[in-house]
Amino acid sequence: TDAVPFHGEHQAGIVTPAQDRLHFVALDVTTDSREDLVALLQDWTAAARRMTAGQDAGEVGAVDGDRYAPPDDTGEAIGLPPSGLTLTVGFGPTLFTTADGRDRFGLAVRRPAPLVELPSFPGDQIDPAISGGDLCIQACANDPQVAVHAVRNLVRIGAGVVSVRWSQLGFGRTSSTSNGQATPRNLFGFKDGTANLKAENGSTLDRFVWVGDDDADWLRGGSYLVTRRIRMLIEPWDSSSLDEQQRTIGRTKGTGAPLGQRAEFDPVDFTTRVDGEFAIPETSHVFLAHPTNAGTAILRRGYSFVDGSDGLGRLDAGLFFIAFQRDPGTGFVQVQRNLRRDALNEYVRHTSSAVFACPPGVRDPADWWGRALL
Ligand code: HEM
Repeated sequence: TDAVPFHGEHQAGIVTPAQDRLHFVALDVTTDSREDLVALLQDWTAAARRMTAGQDAGEVGAVDGDRYAPPDDTGEAIGLPPSGLTLTVGFGPTLFTTADGRDRFGLAVRRPAPLVELPSFPGDQIDPAISGGDLCIQACANDPQVAVHAVRNLVRIGAGVVSVRWSQLGFGRTSSTSNGQATPRNLFGFKDGTANLKAENGSTLDRFVWVGDDDADWLRGGSYLVTRRIRMLIEPWDSSSLDEQQRTIGRTKGTGAPLGQRAEFDPVDFTTRVDGEFAIPETSHVFLAHPTNAGTAILRRGYSFVDGSDGLGRLDAGLFFIAFQRDPGTGFVQVQRNLRRDALNEYVRHTSSAVFACPPGVRDPADWWGRALL
């Protein structure tokens, strides 16, 4: 229920212990006016500063303003605590250069080299209508009403400057981002997040998550955010054997221990044999995603979703995968390429894709999202 500090070196919502709920929204800028874009980012920062502290989006508030004008807050979070709300903003490649090559805001020269559209991967079933975006806002909180309220008010403030391109709700964190958190389970019933990068990993975060001095100046201390909406084929998974499920992941379903080990946090050891065979199959998800074989690490911060059913009697459910890394090319893209032989692929389909550069943290009350860029 506590407030997460809004100001800092890095944006909150990256190594902040993952909250339980997500409302993610991708937006397109509908104006060519740089001034309007700057004003929006300033207004958003002010509203985010207030809402993450548990206050109304505007200074007057939901019910204390002029009764003949629309209130500057929509009201559904009145009386609710901050609930760990974090708001994290990112800039998509199309903010710098539109898909048809226009440089609307004079930002083309400032696009960081790693900020390019993700390549396509074998098996992708990406729907462009729920992919990409000029801007994104990741709202995480321990109360879904608080996350939805925050996104709704930021979208309201953006009227005339941005329009919502797509959005996604998530209901259960599928990773831990701090050693103090118990590992949650994903919709396949497995503990997820055991071997994740965590807030306590200091220098490893500098190496893999935070943008350093080898990238655009304005992005130093920021990070790249990759989202993938991954449909999980629940029905085939549920009719596969426990043994098949465990060999697909490479860990046991009960404790989450690596196959061949005893406890959840026992080290992953690819040399351990059981009955003469490697305990962790070479086609398992953990084998292929592990830094030893993928050659890199990412910080995972995804959420489960169930968007109803698909009209064919199957749950439209899965993982809204979110990863943070200092370079998408040596982060998500490298891991995902290594997963092409992953046994898990039989049970999942990627249906949306996006990449954003998240600027560093807002330092103080005079600072605003993207100031160093704009
Ligand atoms: C580990 C599930 C997609 C990267 C794991 C683990 C599970 C899991 C159960 C083991 C526990 C852990 O260490 O966190 C899933 C499911 C997915 C999915 C159900 C799709 C619906 C992805 C994708 C990537 C990825 C798309 C990146 C491209 C990783 C990494 C690890 C991991 C890096 C840690 C491996 C290690 O160091 O041992 N995943 N995952 N996962 N996953 Fe996934």
